[in-house]
Amino acid sequence: MNRDVSLSSLVCEYQHNPLGIDAPRPRFSWQLVTDRPDIMQTAWQVRVHEDGRLLWDSGRVNSDQSTHVPYGGPPLRSRQRCSWRARVWTGSVSVSAWSRAAGWETGLLQEEDWQADWIDPEGEIDPRAFKPAPFLRREFRLDAPARRARLYATAQGLYELWLNGRRVGERWMTPGWSAYHTRLEYQTYDVTHLLQPGDNALGAILGDGWWRGKLSLDSKRNSYGERLALLLQMEITLADGNRIVVGSDEQWRATSEGPIRKSDWKDGEVYDARMELPGWRLPGFDDGDWHPARVVGRDRERLVASSSPPVRRRERFTPRILTSPGGQTILDFGQNISGHVQFRAQGPAGAQVKLTHVETLGKTGEVEPAQTFLNMERLLQEVHYTLRGDGEERYAPRFTSQGFRYALLEGWPGEPRPEDFEAVAIYSDMATTGRFACSNEALNRLHGNVLWSMKGNFMDVPTDCPTRERAGWTGDAQVFARAGATLMDCAAFFSRWLRDLAAEQKADGAVPNLVPNPYHDGKGMFLVRATEGSAGWADAAIMVPWAMYQSFGDRAVLEQQYDSMRAWYDFMRRRAGKTHWLRRLSPRTLLSPARRRRLRVLQDRGYHWGEWLEPGDSFPWIFFGLVKRLLFSAPYIASAYHKHCADLMAQTADLLNRPDEARQFRDEAKAIGEAWAEEFIAADGSLKPDRQASYVRALAFDLAPAALRPKLVKQLLRKLEEADHHVGTGFLSTGMLLEVLAAEGRNDLAWKLLLQESNPSWLYAINKGATTIWETWDAVREDGSGFGSHNHYSKGVVVEFLYRRVAGIELAAPGYRRIRIQPTPGGGLTWAEGSIQTPYGEVSSSWRIEDGDFHLEVRIPPNTRAEVQLPDGSATRAVGSGRHCWSCRLEA
Ligand code: BGC
Repeated sequence: MNRDVSLSSLVCEYQHNPLGIDAPRPRFSWQLVTDRPDIMQTAWQVRVHEDGRLLWDSGRVNSDQSTHVPYGGPPLRSRQRCSWRARVWTGSVSVSAWSRAAGWETGLLQEEDWQADWIDPEGEIDPRAFKPAPFLRREFRLDAPARRARLYATAQGLYELWLNGRRVGERWMTPGWSAYHTRLEYQTYDVTHLLQPGDNALGAILGDGWWRGKLSLDSKRNSYGERLALLLQMEITLADGNRIVVGSDEQWRATSEGPIRKSDWKDGEVYDARMELPGWRLPGFDDGDWHPARVVGRDRERLVASSSPPVRRRERFTPRILTSPGGQTILDFGQNISGHVQFRAQGPAGAQVKLTHVETLGKTGEVEPAQTFLNMERLLQEVHYTLRGDGEERYAPRFTSQGFRYALLEGWPGEPRPEDFEAVAIYSDMATTGRFACSNEALNRLHGNVLWSMKGNFMDVPTDCPTRERAGWTGDAQVFARAGATLMDCAAFFSRWLRDLAAEQKADGAVPNLVPNPYHDGKGMFLVRATEGSAGWADAAIMVPWAMYQSFGDRAVLEQQYDSMRAWYDFMRRRAGKTHWLRRLSPRTLLSPARRRRLRVLQDRGYHWGEWLEPGDSFPWIFFGLVKRLLFSAPYIASAYHKHCADLMAQTADLLNRPDEARQFRDEAKAIGEAWAEEFIAADGSLKPDRQASYVRALAFDLAPAALRPKLVKQLLRKLEEADHHVGTGFLSTGMLLEVLAAEGRNDLAWKLLLQESNPSWLYAINKGATTIWETWDAVREDGSGFGSHNHYSKGVVVEFLYRRVAGIELAAPGYRRIRIQPTPGGGLTWAEGSIQTPYGEVSSSWRIEDGDFHLEVRIPPNTRAEVQLPDGSATRAVGSGRHCWSCRLEA
């Protein structure tokens, strides 16, 4: 037996010992751990047991696959609890010991498994009014201790559950946000330890949440329904073998006379502690004045098991307490986050504390009423708390979250002390996988800010910002997906979001701007509804699955999404050639059959957000661009994305064994590329509009014939010079800018842009004290005025350059199966180090420069290989797993 290799990080469907999953053939991944160099797996074996009985033995399978190995045993039933182990061969004869056992449990796989009914706790309601959060409870008896108990729960709205006075699970904002009208997720909890023989009490609180609370820019309400409801089923096996099911049914009692008087994701919470219901979570509480909950049907069709990482409360911050020039008391938590403030207070009954959460202070250092875009309405983000008055009171809001760094404190009884407050960051709890540090502190801060913008915008759904809109803007996710996958393990997060994207797609394949789409019913913000199918946004349907496949090597996400990818691609196909009337009737078109031919393959219709928020593109100019693109479309951008998607579709079809389709996509990519070049590239390589983004996009998407490429590069360099080496791109091309320069051998310019400190640049924001990534380049101008949100991750894609080029870690095959190490020192850095937790284990690269010598140390995980390119231009070295060190001389 091979004692040098062991297995760790055993995960099933990306989770450690998941509970209540519904994948019909769950997939296993493991990592090899060894001190020995150059280790490759040559074969694997998995055994699955259920109650000590062998369910599946794969036998020895000669393969190096160590990620996403599908279960191959008999079909799984509901509630099935399985354990699995693996062992691997790393040579022809030597086999590792069996790994320790890991487990998984299936959820309720059939609709009939649900015996419980949906219950509605409210009486007559006014759909337009804000309503108090309903409380629900039910008692039951157990004649024996519980041996095993599972609770399956979901809601229309948000739910929080309590069993015998203890909170069920640590998840927050359950059941999460999905395309509720087609997919509603339920969660599974192990509640064995919360039960007791004798009387038990189960309690629930419901919040408006995404179901009927304010959503998106126009704060649309009741997007999925006007009434809240709870569905829950607890299945208990007693020590004596008896089985008991306690579900939501007509025996539940409810009240709306609890302390949460209003709860809204965007607005905040109004809480009156005088209305608390002491003991309601415990058995024996007198709920005589509560009313029976109403059974409202048995709809289970939309139910699916929750598959993305749970939203949890994570980092905590204690504030500095400031007094503004105007006398405001302001809590400064030092970091812009998405989450809430919890506090403890002591004071007279009826005293009212108010917290107003904001990202920034105004010019004079005061908290100003938060402006929303277009002033559509005031962004509240307020918490109102009325004291009980009987000693120390502790409070944390529940069904809401705020995007903030500061909070204005009003009505505090007595002198506020920092230790009475705590800001808690709340987000989808994904492991941090990327680490980066270097000798330039500003770059380290930039990296940290991007991570915080990711945390601030990954609350079950990838949002644009955690304040103004909080919406699943597809373009933002498209731009950021690859960078996000380096920073955090978001494979399950995105694979689940992509299911919602597919579910939200229109019959003609159009992808809505927002996923989940609050406007799925065709009501609400006309501008957002009428602009579906935008290049760079709708392309998330193709580009995000591809980014996930690249980052995690999981082909299943492409299989899962293929129909959706194709539907969106076909939409573009049909749109191609629908020439805009202005161009159709232009003499240039009428007189040239060649032009008519090429217009037939180009995208010339539809609204496109365009490059979006290039420097200077702020109020009111942003609206001119918007109207211009509404009237004239943006063919040079839309056709570029069509070509790029055709390339990705061709590669996807190849992978999924669809050679005919692949050939067709490839032919189309070629035809679009040629037409694009003829239509948009002038003989001197210049493009219209003559902007950095146009050149970056054309180079990144390979739109220029080889002969013209150097000319385009030259034009890009001219644009950079004109901008005095300031970044000039917006949402779509910023992430490609430095990479394009590096690929063209102009690392020096990439460094110049990266280290630029005046506006517009990444470090400008750092110098202005930003703790997250801004939506616009100048969210804070020199004169203190500003425009845009302070927490939009899109421009944070620059971290890819830090990993790929500075630390020099690049994937050479999907999932980092093969790795390229290619550090490119520059920018005056004396050292840098980066690491990424890949599906195979950690890859790291760290370098330092001493007396003109470059020293590099890399670690390559087992079961992968790497090519290493030193910055002196010497030959590439091919290495296996383990630690490797090199030195070389740098040119002076
Ligand atoms: C959002 C963006 C979004 C954009 C569409 C904005 O209001 O905040 O992040 O992608 O609209 O261009």
